[in-house]
Amino acid sequence: MARRFLTVFSIVLVLGASLALVACGGGGNKLEIYSWWTAGGEAEGLKALMDVYHKQYPNVQIINATVAGGAGTNAKAVLATRLTGGNPPDAFQLHAGLEVQKYDPEKYLVPLDDLYKSQGLDKVFPQDLLSLLQYKGHYWGVPVDIHRANVLWYNKKLFADNRLQPPATWDEYFKVSKVFKAKKIIPMTMGTKEGWESCHVFETVLISVLGPDGYKGLWTGATKWTDPKVTDALNLYKNMLADINTDHAALSWDQALQYLLDGKAAMFIMGDWTNGWFTSKNFTGYGWECVPGTKVFDGLSDSFALPKKAPHMQNALNWLQVCGSQAGQAAFNPLKGSIPARTDVDPSLFNPYSQSAMKDWTSEPIAPSVMHGAAAIEKWATVYKDIMNTFATNLDVSTTQQALDQAAKDNLAM
Ligand code: GAL
Repeated sequence: MARRFLTVFSIVLVLGASLALVACGGGGNKLEIYSWWTAGGEAEGLKALMDVYHKQYPNVQIINATVAGGAGTNAKAVLATRLTGGNPPDAFQLHAGLEVQKYDPEKYLVPLDDLYKSQGLDKVFPQDLLSLLQYKGHYWGVPVDIHRANVLWYNKKLFADNRLQPPATWDEYFKVSKVFKAKKIIPMTMGTKEGWESCHVFETVLISVLGPDGYKGLWTGATKWTDPKVTDALNLYKNMLADINTDHAALSWDQALQYLLDGKAAMFIMGDWTNGWFTSKNFTGYGWECVPGTKVFDGLSDSFALPKKAPHMQNALNWLQVCGSQAGQAAFNPLKGSIPARTDVDPSLFNPYSQSAMKDWTSEPIAPSVMHGAAAIEKWATVYKDIMNTFATNLDVSTTQQALDQAAKDNLAM
């Protein structure tokens, strides 16, 4: 009887222990990768990167832990809780730039300077990116890509059928919008469901109206948010919002983009993950221009970071090596729509859009994206996001400008 009890007791113990291990992801030869890449292009790019890893480490089981929601609006909050709760994934998506401040890196993350040295990473990424990647004197993430935020995508057939040229100025933009509107075609499609998309578009309008230096100054205190040019930018953006689809609040960025693919909308302002999305749909009927008035590269970069408590530390370090490798970047970026962070990946692997982005990255002034982690600490970027999301429905220029100014005062004082 006693033996039977002991056997049952040990089975329960073993079962309980394995369940606990599964629950915290600690057991077995695994690798949990955390990101928000679930949309077309994003998901394919991530899978291709994981396939490169899998070829080198076939015995490791990869757990693709995604929390959907463009720009990481949902994923970042969940991740912060996991980090502080001592239950982190093995590696997670992190924008290059000030976003890392949110995760208290000195407490929760492993500085990657040794990896940069041993892999020669400080020699293969452009200097602008290397500077953006450093925070408090350390590298905290290995970048996989460089994305451009200020792209105006358009449906080529709709422009050709209506004998229109893609707009190079805002005057032209409003003229073509009028033509499309009269034909019951949505001039500009937008999805504001996740709360960040409107801020993304406004960021590009700010760069257009203030220029790259004026825009950069907004995040350092050199440009005042009370500047009349910010008022101009808000008014311009307000006029743009008058021509977007009425169901924008119900759609995510990729759902809104479907209108352009279906020939129901003419234009779309979004980062070049859009290029990856089109590729994933085998759609080639799109053209691109920079957002009017922005011969500037509004840039951002996705990297992967390493929590101090990563349950499978060696597997995670190997993942970071794959992320930074030529093979990894060559597999990932053509599907993701981005250009590689490395400067030595063969450009012929990329479609014409990406080849043009590669040229622009090296020739145009660079402005760091605020909506995608580069320009400001996360707390400020979040307040900015909420203010601009509200603007998309209340269209109140003066209250919005005051709120933006207050947000700057609160955060610059920190
Ligand atoms: C950005 C991210 C991109 C893309 C986009 C939409 O923040 O850097 O890689 O995923 O969100 O989800």
